[in-house]
Amino acid sequence: MKVLVINGPNINLLGLREPTIYGKDSYDDLVSMIRDEADKLGIEVGFIQSNHEGALVDAIQNAYGNFDALILNPAAYTHTSVAIRDALKAVSIPTVEVHLSDPDSREDFRKVSYIRDICEASIVGKGFKGYIEALQYLVKRYRSVEG
Ligand code: DQA
Repeated sequence: MKVLVINGPNINLLGLREPTIYGKDSYDDLVSMIRDEADKLGIEVGFIQSNHEGALVDAIQNAYGNFDALILNPAAYTHTSVAIRDALKAVSIPTVEVHLSDPDSREDFRKVSYIRDICEASIVGKGFKGYIEALQYLVKRYRSVEG
């Protein structure tokens, strides 16, 4: 099984950006934590982080035929991007939406997610652990479907 972890704008600044909300650990720390879990689960994992909406759309399109599932934190684009939603619908790859914080408990403009209703699950407000839960969820789902 191959899972692609896609992170949107400013996630590269983890550790620096608003540590009271996003924590003190870096994006590299996040990647290595997910890699360790992927090793334990015996699956392959890929990573893309971009600050550009079109690059995220490209990443979703290029995942078609190459990855079995996606973990997606579109960051600020969660609340604005019809293009990311359309790309997800086009490729129809099982996706879990992850947010480090709980956007629903923050400013009103974060309460809308353009992807939530087309994702298999949304995991919010659990920090880095949310990505681990998403990976475990997708592996369990894949193994129950593929046998
Ligand atoms: C975020 C929440 C978004 O509202 C915000 O724009 C982000 C990060 C999160 O992981 O909590 O950049 O997606």
